[in-house]
Amino acid sequence: MKSIKQSIRGCSDYLPEYMRIWRFLETKIINVLNSYCYNEIQFPIIENTELFQRTIGVSTDILLKEMYSFKDKKNNSITLRPEGTIGCVRTIIENKLNSITENRLWYVGPMFRYERPQKGRYRQFNQLGIEVFGISEPEIELELLMIFSRLLHDLKLSNSVYLEINSIGSKRARRLYIKDLVIFLKKYEKKLDIDSKKRIYTNPLRILDTKNKAIQSLLKEAPVILDYLDEKSKFHFEKLCLLMNKVNVKYKINTRLVRGLDYYNDTVFEWKTNSLGSQNTVCGGGRYDTLFQQIGGKSTSAVGCAVGIERLILLIRKESMILKEAASFIDIYLFFLKKEIYFIVLKLAENIRTVFPTLKIKIDFLVSNISNKLRKANRCNTTVALILGEKEVLTKTVLVKNLKNNMQMIVSKKELIKYLKKIFF
Ligand code: HAM
Repeated sequence: MKSIKQSIRGCSDYLPEYMRIWRFLETKIINVLNSYCYNEIQFPIIENTELFQRTIGVSTDILLKEMYSFKDKKNNSITLRPEGTIGCVRTIIENKLNSITENRLWYVGPMFRYERPQKGRYRQFNQLGIEVFGISEPEIELELLMIFSRLLHDLKLSNSVYLEINSIGSKRARRLYIKDLVIFLKKYEKKLDIDSKKRIYTNPLRILDTKNKAIQSLLKEAPVILDYLDEKSKFHFEKLCLLMNKVNVKYKINTRLVRGLDYYNDTVFEWKTNSLGSQNTVCGGGRYDTLFQQIGGKSTSAVGCAVGIERLILLIRKESMILKEAASFIDIYLFFLKKEIYFIVLKLAENIRTVFPTLKIKIDFLVSNISNKLRKANRCNTTVALILGEKEVLTKTVLVKNLKNNMQMIVSKKELIKYLKKIFF
């Protein structure tokens, strides 16, 4: 039995240094999404198990082995959401949201999958999901891809991530394709690993994204799904490629790209990196035009994607120059040299906060000598130290030390706000 001091396997503690990067990242993401007029939506972390059973796909790993399901006190089967798209669509249907006016949405929050934990793969992890409803044209796929491209650019990660794209066509096209794929795979059944052998009969499409190098090379000769697309799917995919070429979104067509959830049709895509080992997909998504009907809503075109927040943070920590911007800092550090001066310093800090509410201001409560305090301020990446001793109290002044340029000055309390304004604004 594990110690009660340890977190549950696959669940992480998010410490302050991590959360600083997280919030920094979140602000960047929200700014980009706002600029494209996407609206935030939130929905419960728990849903009826049946919602996922009906939609995720009967032979997917998520449904077969990864769902956290339990009975509640009334014996209803409840599941911790393994992903966000399904709950989001359920919310739209239940709340009768108009898919014309409220059709570009995003959410962020924890998801749960009972997977084997490793770097980049956790049992509780967070996704930023982006979903668009009611638009069938490929221009909307382009918009989603441009949003993520912009975000990567803002995070200085454009060179660390690449886009792979494919079309898996309609249900009928997939049925025809799977038939031929199975014939092909059966010819080589002896050469397949145990998992793939099983999948011939349960979920042959998933064999296409095997990580086994020998099977990958065997699959080079396999039939290609793009050859099975009907005219409508073909037109949609070709138009999307054309649009991406026009606006210079760089992509690779990967004819073996399939997704781990069964609700997709036509476009599927993944943004991958070579920097994170085997858990290399940072963002994945595609079109899912039949999901609304599967849940009992009216037929609605839909497309979306989800970014793994933890994977993105791993990547930022490894690759991005942006990390410096997320570093911790203090704008104004206040020190007093005698206990009795505490209340004067407290009042001063409150006054500064009232005038400059965005500045980060900290009071040091320990009394020690000035050089100790300045060392401490420097370690905390402070811009300005304000120091008050007996002399300053008597003369109604403050010793202001600018730690960025090492200038120091005695400023009257009356002039202090004006002086700080010059430094910070
Ligand atoms: P997904 O590919 O299963 O798609 O997950 C999206 C992203 O979540 C992955 O690319 C990865 O970054 C992250 N992720 C998935 N599983 C884990 C894990 N165990 N630990 C850490 N990160 C993980 C979906 O979930 C779809 N709902 C995406 C979508 C939205 N499609 C249409 N709209």
